Amino acid sequence: IHIDWDLATAEKGTYVHYMQKEIYEQGRSLTDTLRGRLDFEHGRVVLDSLNLSAAQVQALERVTIVACGTSYYAGLLGKHYIERLARLPVEVDYASEFRYREPVIGPGHLALAITQSGETVDTLAALEEAQAQGAFTAAIVNVVGSQAARLCDGVIYMQAGPEIGVASTKAFTASAVDLLLLAIYLGQARGLLSASAVMTLLEELSRLPGLAGELLEAAWQGSYYRELAGRFAHYQHFLYLGRGLNYPIAREGALKLKEISYIHAEGYPAGEMKHGPIALIDHQMPTMVIAPRDRVYDKMISQVEQVKARGGTVLAVAEAGDPILAEKADFLLPVPPSHELLAPILAVLPLQLFAYEVAVHRGVDVDKPRNLAKSVTVE
Ligand code: G6P
Repeated sequence: IHIDWDLATAEKGTYVHYMQKEIYEQGRSLTDTLRGRLDFEHGRVVLDSLNLSAAQVQALERVTIVACGTSYYAGLLGKHYIERLARLPVEVDYASEFRYREPVIGPGHLALAITQSGETVDTLAALEEAQAQGAFTAAIVNVVGSQAARLCDGVIYMQAGPEIGVASTKAFTASAVDLLLLAIYLGQARGLLSASAVMTLLEELSRLPGLAGELLEAAWQGSYYRELAGRFAHYQHFLYLGRGLNYPIAREGALKLKEISYIHAEGYPAGEMKHGPIALIDHQMPTMVIAPRDRVYDKMISQVEQVKARGGTVLAVAEAGDPILAEKADFLLPVPPSHELLAPILAVLPLQLFAYEVAVHRGVDVDKPRNLAKSVTVE
């Protein structure tokens, strides 16, 4: 596979920051990520460079995902996808932890790295360890020809184009899509998905870039996120809550805020709030809830009520026009309604926009936040 990244796609154009460009171009980058992957004619996904035959898939016993930073949070979402659609147990580990803890891994295991750069040293070391133990290694990677791409037995390219901003945005949504494609591929090869179930997922995936584009276009045309940033940029602590598929999104949203705004933010599984974070809630710590109408929606509503009862302010990533959250939350960050498995990919977009605008409001060098590097090639 050969992908040309021409100079134009790596330039800022009319945008102020690379990160801003990379957020707003996700309608297009998601189209690129899906290019050549959805085979409607045969009702299957195409992942040729994964090099994993149906017979190899049938022999798989488990999947271990290794990654760092934003890629790790994509991995947490991938666990949901693969366990739900392919019924394979999935473990997700920080690459820096995996390599030093005598991991149980070997033949029959798929070791899957997620890495935008393909050069993160901890992730490469984890892959080498898994390979040495006899696992099949694969990487979801953006940079073609990177170390991870060369080292692994199989590759799924993100096809997202160059990502320059230090804080990862479009590589997250690309990884999430690739993980869903992989889950469909594994589920189908294991005989667990009917033809109509696969077709439904392919159709839903093909709608995703349009829905993302619609959300981003509305944000671009308006000034809502700038206004929100004006209201919230002076806070020092934020709590992000999500459950199920949206727990990883809460983690990623909190990471975005701390990376570029230098505001302390914690991403927590909503059901764990009562075991600690609830003690922190007051008028000085706003809570961001991620609450599309999925199977845990009612539980998220009760979390909102609990935060409100303690004098907290609630911002909610919710389906546009959700009447319940419109009443209960203080501010809504709307997302278009979508299939449950795709909702997390749309839900991260408002969190990227929010973190970006807060950082701009605080005068941070968004593309080069202090102490951080785009690709961490030292331990
Ligand atoms: C650094 C970057 C993050 C990125 C992480 C993993 O910390 O600042 O944005 O998520 O590395 O990078 P990778 O290239 O392996 O996805």
